[in-house]
Amino acid sequence: MARAALLLAALSTLVAAAAAGGDAPPGKIAVVGAGIGGSAVAHFLQQHFGPRVQIDVFEKGTVGGRLATISVNKQHYESGAASFHSLSLHMQDFVRLLGLRHRREVVGRSAIFGGAHLVLEETDWYLLNLFRLWWHYGIGFLRLQMWVEEVMEKFMRIYKYQAHGYAFSGVEELLYSLGEATFINMTQRSVAESLLQVGVTQRFIDDVVSAVLRASYGQSAAMPAFAGAMSLAGAQGSLWSVEGGNKLVCSGLLRLTKANVIHATVTSVTLHSKEGKALYEVGYETEQRHSSDFYDIVVIASPLHLDNSSSNLTFQGFTPPIDDLQAAYQPTVVSLVHGYLNSSYFGFPDPKLFPFASILTTDFPSFFSTLDNICPVNISANFRRKQPQEAAVWRVQSPKPLLRTQLKTLFRSYYSVQTAEWQAHPLYGSRRTLPSFALHDQLFHLSALEWAASSVEVMAVAAKNVALLAYNRWYQDLDKIDQKDLMHKVKTEL
Ligand SMILES: Cc1cc2nc3c(=O)[nH]c(=O)nc-3n(C[C@H](O)[C@H](O)[C@H](O)COP(=O)(O)OP(=O)(O)OC[C@H]3O[C@@H](n4cnc5c(N)ncnc54)[C@H](O)[C@@H]3O)c2cc1C
Ligand SMILES: *[C@@H]1O[C@H](CO)[C@@H](O)[C@H](O)[C@H]1NC(C)=O
Ligand SMILES: *[C@@H]1O[C@H](CO)[C@@H](O)[C@H](O)[C@H]1NC(C)=O
Ligand SMILES: *[C@@H]1O[C@H](CO)[C@@H](O)[C@H](O)[C@H]1NC(C)=O
Ligand SMILES: *[C@@H]1O[C@H](CO)[C@@H](O)[C@H](O)[C@H]1NC(C)=O
Ligand SMILES: *[C@@H]1O[C@H](CO)[C@@H](O)[C@H](O)[C@H]1NC(C)=O
Repeated sequence: MARAALLLAALSTLVAAAAAGGDAPPGKIAVVGAGIGGSAVAHFLQQHFGPRVQIDVFEKGTVGGRLATISVNKQHYESGAASFHSLSLHMQDFVRLLGLRHRREVVGRSAIFGGAHLVLEETDWYLLNLFRLWWHYGIGFLRLQMWVEEVMEKFMRIYKYQAHGYAFSGVEELLYSLGEATFINMTQRSVAESLLQVGVTQRFIDDVVSAVLRASYGQSAAMPAFAGAMSLAGAQGSLWSVEGGNKLVCSGLLRLTKANVIHATVTSVTLHSKEGKALYEVGYETEQRHSSDFYDIVVIASPLHLDNSSSNLTFQGFTPPIDDLQAAYQPTVVSLVHGYLNSSYFGFPDPKLFPFASILTTDFPSFFSTLDNICPVNISANFRRKQPQEAAVWRVQSPKPLLRTQLKTLFRSYYSVQTAEWQAHPLYGSRRTLPSFALHDQLFHLSALEWAASSVEVMAVAAKNVALLAYNRWYQDLDKIDQKDLMHKVKTEL
C-alpha cells in the first residue's frame, strides 16, 4: 500500500516534470567568475545535473579570484583570503575530495595596538589569556562568546537544509529560515548596538571587537551585526588554510568538474526564448574579439562593482530590467613586505624582545589595520617562524596603498614590497535591501550572499544554494524552494 502510494507519487512527479518540459537535463551552463563561488557552483551543478552537462566558466583575471598568492624571495604567500574557520564544512569537504592537505599551523602570539601602546597582549598560556580578558573586561567577554556561538549554531543549520536539497531564492529567505526575524534584524542593526544590548561593554567593543572587525572587514563596529558575528567567530575558532595555497581549491574543483574555463570578460547577458523556455546569450570579450554563446542556465559568481576599471556587465531584454546589482565594495590593500620590523614603533626598542607574530589595531593608527609575520603556503616539517630580529615576510593590510614614509615607520629597512589591491568586501550600509539569488528563471547571482557576510565558506554555501535552486527550478520541484519551518521538516523527513 505504502509502496504503491510512493510509486504513484514518483510517477506524478515525473508526469509533472514532463508536462513542464523539464525532464531533459539542461544542455549548457555558464558560470561567470572562477573564484571560490564560481568553482564551487560548477562542482555542485555537475553533482546535481550529472556529468553530461557542459559547464563553461568565464574568468577575466586569474582562477581563484580573491584566493591568490604572491611570490616573495622564491616562496609563495597568501595575498587574498588567508584562513578559514574549522567549521567551514564545504571547504573541508573540497579539501578532502581533492586530496589536498591542511597547512600546519605555526603558532604565534597576537596583540592589539592602540596607537600609543598595546591594549591587549596574548600570552602563551590560554587560561592566563582568559583571566586577563576577564580582569580587563569582566563578564562582557563571555557574553560576546555566547552571542557569537548562538549565531554560528543557527547558521550551521544551512548544511542540514542543503543536504536535504532545500534552496532559497533570496538572501532574506535563507537567513529567515536559519534565524528567523533575529537574523534579518541582525543585518539591519550594528554590531555595537547588538553587543551593548547583550551586556558587552563599550570598552570591550572599542578595544577588541573593533580591532577584529577592522582586521577582517576593514570596517567598524557600526557594520551590521550578522556579518560582524561571522567574522568574530573566525577570531575565536581554530583557523586553517590549504597547503600549497588556498586557490588550489578553485583550480582543483574546476579540473574535477572538467569545466571548460574560458579566459574572457563577460560583458552582457541577453534574454531570448526557445520553445517557451528562457535561453540566455552570454556576450564576452577576449583580447582579440567579441563572441557570444547560448546557455540554459547562467550563474554570475562575482560581485558587480561600481567602479569603472572593469567593463560593466549589462543585462538586456529583461522586463522588468535587472539593474539593481551594482554596489560599493571596501578597498583593501595587502602589502607583502620582506624586511626588518621596526619594533620600537610598538614600544619594543630591542627587536629580539618583540614577542608577537600578529598585530591588530584599534582605530588609531589609521594607516594600517593588521600586520602579520606570515609563513609561505608550503611549509616543511622543520619550518619555524622567523624571529622578530630577522628579516621576515610581513603582510600589512591597509585601506590605501602604504606611503614610503609609512613603510619607513613600520620597518627599519626592507628588501621588497609587493602589493595586491582588492575590492575586498561589500561596503555594508551602502545597500538598503538584501538582494536576491534569482535574477530571472535560470539566471542567478551567487554573490548576493556576500551582503549577509563575506567569507570563503559563505560563498561556498551560496554556491550550493544556487546549484540547488537551479536544479529544483529546472525540475519544477517547488516544494524544495523557500520552504518555511525547515527545522521541523528536516526532523520528520527520512
Ligand atoms: C585581503 C582579503 C582577505 C580576506 N580574508 C579572508 C579570510 O581570511 N577568510 C575568508 O573566509 N575570507 C576572506 N576574504 C574574503 C574572501 O576572499 C571572499 O569572500 C571570497 O574569496 C569571494 O569569492 P567569490 O568567488 O565570491 O568572488 P571572487 O573571488 O572575487 O571571484 C570572482 C571572479 O570573477 C571574475 N570576474 C568578475 N567579473 C567578471 C566578468 N565580467 N567576466 C569574467 N570574469 C569576471 C573575477 O576576476 C574573479 O576571479 C578576504 C578577502 C580579501 C580581499
Ligand atoms: C531589532 O531588534 C531590536 C530588539 O530586539 C529592536 O529594538 C530593533 O528595533 C530591531 N531593529 C529592526 C531594524 O528591526
Ligand atoms: C571613474 O573614472 C573617472 C574618470 O576617468 C574618475 O574620475 C573616477 O574617480 C573613477 N571612479 C572610480 C570609482 O574609480
Ligand atoms: C559602468 O556603469 C556605470 C553606471 O551605469 C557608468 O557610469 C560607467 O561609465 C560604466 N563603465 C564602463 C566602463 O562602461
Ligand atoms: C621606528 O619607530 C620609532 C618609534 O615610533 C621612530 O622614532 C623611528 O623613526 C622609526 N623608524 C626607524 C627606522 O627606526
Ligand atoms: C615550496 O615552494 C617553493 C617555491 O614554489 C619551493 O622552492 C619549495 O621547495 C617548496 N617547499 C616545499 C616544502 O614543498
